[in-house]
Amino acid sequence: MTFASSTSSREVVLSQHRPGPEVLPSRCVSIQEGERSPLQVGQVRVLNDFMQVTAVMADLMSESPGLPMPAYPLGKALWGGAVGTVIESAADLPVGTVVQHMKGWQEESVDEASAFYPVPMEYLPGREYVLNQGVTAFHGMADIAAVTEGDVVFVSGAAGGVGSLAGQIAKALGAAKVIGSAGSPEKVKYLVDELGFDAGINYRDGLVEEQLADLAPEGISVFFDTVGGSQFEAAVQAAAPGARFALCGALAGQIAGGDQGSPRLDIMTAIVKQLTIRPFSTHHTPDQLAAWGSHYGQWLAEDRLVFPHTIVDGGLDVAPTVLDGLLEGRYRGNVLIRLHP
Ligand SMILES: NC(=O)c1ccc[n+]([C@@H]2O[C@H](COP(=O)([O-])OP(=O)(O)OC[C@H]3O[C@@H](n4cnc5c(N)ncnc54)[C@H](OP(=O)(O)O)[C@@H]3O)[C@@H](O)[C@H]2O)c1
Repeated sequence: MTFASSTSSREVVLSQHRPGPEVLPSRCVSIQEGERSPLQVGQVRVLNDFMQVTAVMADLMSESPGLPMPAYPLGKALWGGAVGTVIESAADLPVGTVVQHMKGWQEESVDEASAFYPVPMEYLPGREYVLNQGVTAFHGMADIAAVTEGDVVFVSGAAGGVGSLAGQIAKALGAAKVIGSAGSPEKVKYLVDELGFDAGINYRDGLVEEQLADLAPEGISVFFDTVGGSQFEAAVQAAAPGARFALCGALAGQIAGGDQGSPRLDIMTAIVKQLTIRPFSTHHTPDQLAAWGSHYGQWLAEDRLVFPHTIVDGGLDVAPTVLDGLLEGRYRGNVLIRLHP
């Protein structure tokens, strides 16, 4: 049964492995016409409305990214989060169902119906709201850092996809003060004015350690790190005794390359302060998905959280350069591409 039909089904394919951060992701991909074959029994065809762009996608283009998720295979479409509508069905999933899935970077996606998850639209203001990095942000804040009432929290990379939710989650969990770092005065203002952070640090403007000492003279009790490098080193110096560090990412190294994401650990200070330093990797287990899902819709409805995001128009054609721009810091929050008008 057919609900609507698009004229093309193009996809973004990995045309060469990315040798390192010095090469823009857009140089490693091409847009190809996908094969539009008839559905097999049990399959559905989905017209994608929005796709998600995240920093790790650039890493997944390398030959051996060493990450706990599959690298992009040469000559095949990239994968990533997307939301769309079932337009043809040879399965129990009816035409018209809004679904989310991991077959992004395509205008249309075809697979077994079990690869697509109906979106609970009653809890969300718009379908694009499912394309968020809240599972990671919530797992890091609630389970790894165990944020609780009264905590003084520092989030690095706070205007990015994960960080912009992590700071808001810390507030919602009762943190007394949340400080975020970002790379421009506009982004710092965004953190405070629109996301409810108590204060922001422009890491390009003065030493982070000194700015933290001014903003949190009592010391930070939690550090949620997406950047690594010198911001991690500053957080060790700014930490209160017993502080918990949740290490989520190393953007400084992922984006600038070299050893910039790899901090030196001042071991004596860490010992004296008895810091707990926990790197973590989110596997989107049913428990982790349920934990975030049970808070997200409610916090949005109660205005305790906003979904920080940037929607870029232009369809699949702009997707590769949007990933370039994300690494360059051009966007705020979770970055989404509208795939058709
Ligand atoms: N542990 C896990 O399970 C897990 C899951 C998902 C993601 N991650 C990781 O979480 C991190 C954030 O991911 P994301 O997708 O939300 O990325 P993102 O924060 O949206 O990344 C883009 C941002 O990185 C910042 N940036 C660029 N160069 C920088 C530098 N040299 N130093 C500091 N910041 C720099 C830019 O912000 P400014 O303009 O502010 O510099 C830019 O907006 C990544 O490391 C990702 O791999 C981990």
